[in-house]
Order: sequence, then structure tokens, then C-alpha cells
Amino acid sequence: MAVSPSSDVTRMRLDPEAIAAVDRSDMLADVVGLPEHLRDALWKIESADLQPWDSPGGLVVAGMGGSAVGGALARAMLGDHASRPLLASRQYGLPAWTTPDTTILCASYSGDTEETLACYEAAGALGATRVAVTSGGRLAELARADGVPVIPVAGGFQPRAAVAYMTVAALEVAWLCGAGPRMGAEIDVAADHLEQLVIAWGAASAEDSEAKTLARALYDSVPVIAGSGLTTPIAYRWKTQFNENAKMPAFTHELPELCHNEVVGWQEAPALGRFAAVFLDDSDTHPRVKRRIALTRELIGEQATGSFVAETRGHTAVERVLSLVLLGDLVSLYAAVLRGTDPTPVDVLVTLKQRLAGDA
Ligand code: PA5
Repeated sequence: MAVSPSSDVTRMRLDPEAIAAVDRSDMLADVVGLPEHLRDALWKIESADLQPWDSPGGLVVAGMGGSAVGGALARAMLGDHASRPLLASRQYGLPAWTTPDTTILCASYSGDTEETLACYEAAGALGATRVAVTSGGRLAELARADGVPVIPVAGGFQPRAAVAYMTVAALEVAWLCGAGPRMGAEIDVAADHLEQLVIAWGAASAEDSEAKTLARALYDSVPVIAGSGLTTPIAYRWKTQFNENAKMPAFTHELPELCHNEVVGWQEAPALGRFAAVFLDDSDTHPRVKRRIALTRELIGEQATGSFVAETRGHTAVERVLSLVLLGDLVSLYAAVLRGTDPTPVDVLVTLKQRLAGDA
């Protein structure tokens, strides 16, 4: 049973033993496995032996939830180096502008997600180049029967824990279809960098490590997470990890847009509940956006239960994006532990899918 927030919880240690007692299915192993997953993903894609092709229409990564996030993170990593459109699309159909010149990467960890399967069919009907990234399911069956290349993903994860596989697949397919440069070397360097961050923030880190401190600050409030530019899709990843790991509501917005609306909404926040503000910052954030973060924190200071800034670490965009993905994954996992809830199961999500399947 989930614990109610109390000062006892805030004082609770987040050491490996205490974490394991709540994290019964060991989500932690998958989160701190991020560096290894990156290397394995590169190897798996190389083994798939795909030959480059030309897609003047760019790349659409069609997927949902934990499988779609890789497309959005890949887009952020490529930044100005993307030479063609690259979009993560989370819906039943393809974007209206998709043409046979567009590559569609159908990303579904289970291979059974109906929205992604619908996009796979739509891309086939359009005559677009298709690639699948999946651990199996109907998507793998269909792709193999149609002669569509399949990038395999390791089995046994929750879909959201396969973030490295989905991100690397999107980056590599972007390169293969001419939408961006090859990022293999940056991915390798980022994997080494993440190993250091796992030591700094992982289960054996100090009780006042950034990840544990943020978890203690956020586990009993509704996190409202803001990103900008490169950190925008990471803010969304934080939100969904709070949802699925810690079973908490969480919301996200982006700067500078939130300075034109959401900043006003904080006025009534204390009357409605406990809300905490988190700003995800990066060395490359526009200086005026940095100023806006500072001013927004000042102006909402009284209304939020706390306001926090988490900064990317590293040099390349790949390192920086993945550093904050790792931090958010750990913060949400520690928040789950502080709430006494096993991070792994997502029962409501499973029930919803079962009910939808019953409609068929
Ligand atoms: O985190 C999750 O489990 C979900 O967001 C899934 O990723 C989503 O439901 C799509 O399923 P799949 O990743 O198997 O395509």
C-alpha cells in the first residue's frame, strides 16, 4: 500500500536495500542499464545490416508512449544538424504531409500497439519506406511477411525502459534515410559519460545526491515540469516517468510559451493542491529563456511547494539529453520508493488496453 507523505518519509533512506524493498521488479536495474542499452542498441542495428537509402520527405517515427519518446529525443539530439523533417507522431494516422518519399519508423516495444499498427498499414498503403523497431508481436510478424526491415529490441523490459533502444533506432534510421548525420560515435561517448552519472545519482550515491534530493522534494507534490528547446521532450519524459513509475499526476509545458499563460495559473495553485515547479535547463538554452526561468521562479515562488532547476550534463547534445533522461528516470523511481509504490506495474494502462482489445 502506498504511504502517505510525512516527515518520516522525507527522512527515509534511499539506499540499495530500501529501494529494493519497494522496487520489487527491479526497475532500477533497467534505469541504470542505460549505458549498456545504448551500446547494445548500436550493435543490434549494425547486425540488422540496413543499407542507406534516400528519403527526401524525411522521417516520421510512429509510436506511442514509451516507444514514441525515442523519436522525440532523437529530434532534440540532432537539433540543427537535422537536414530533413523528423517528427515523432503519436496517433492512429500519419501526418497529412507524409508522402511516398517519407520513411516511417514504426516503433512499438510490444509490437501490438493498435495506433502503431494502423500507421504501419497506412505507410504501406502510401508506398512509403517502412522500418520497424520492436521486440516482437504483430508488428514483427507483419514486417517479416512484408519484407520490411526489423530492428530488434531486447525483450523483458517495460516499454519505457527501452528508451535507449528506441532513441538509437530513430537516430540510426534518420542517418540511413538521409535526415541527419551519423551519431554512433556520440552515442558511444554518451554511454561512457552516463556511467559516471549512474555513480553520482544511482542507488549507492550519497543521500544528498541530486537525484535523491529532487525525489524528496517532489514525491508529495504534483510536478509541473518545463523544458525549452532541447529539454522540451525530456520534460515530457519526466512527466510520463512520474506518471508510470511513481503513479503520480505530473504535467509539462515549455518556455518561453508558459510565460504567456501558465505563469498566471500558479496564482490559485495553493488553493487547489500541492504543485512543484521543475525547470530543465541546458548550456545551449537561449539567454532570454534563462532569464525567463529566473523571473518565473521568482514570481511563482510563493505559490509552488518548491521550484527547482535541473541542468543537463556533458558536451554533445546526445550526452546532454541522455543525462537529464537518466536523472528524471531516477528521480521518478526514488519518488515511487518514497511513496511505497512498486515502480514497474502499470495496471491501469494494461486494463485499458485489455478493454480496448475486447471491443475488437
Ligand atoms: O510505458 C508504457 O508501457 C506505454 O507508454 C507504452 O510504451 C505504450 O502503451 C505503447 O506500447 P508499446 O511501447 O508496446 O508500443
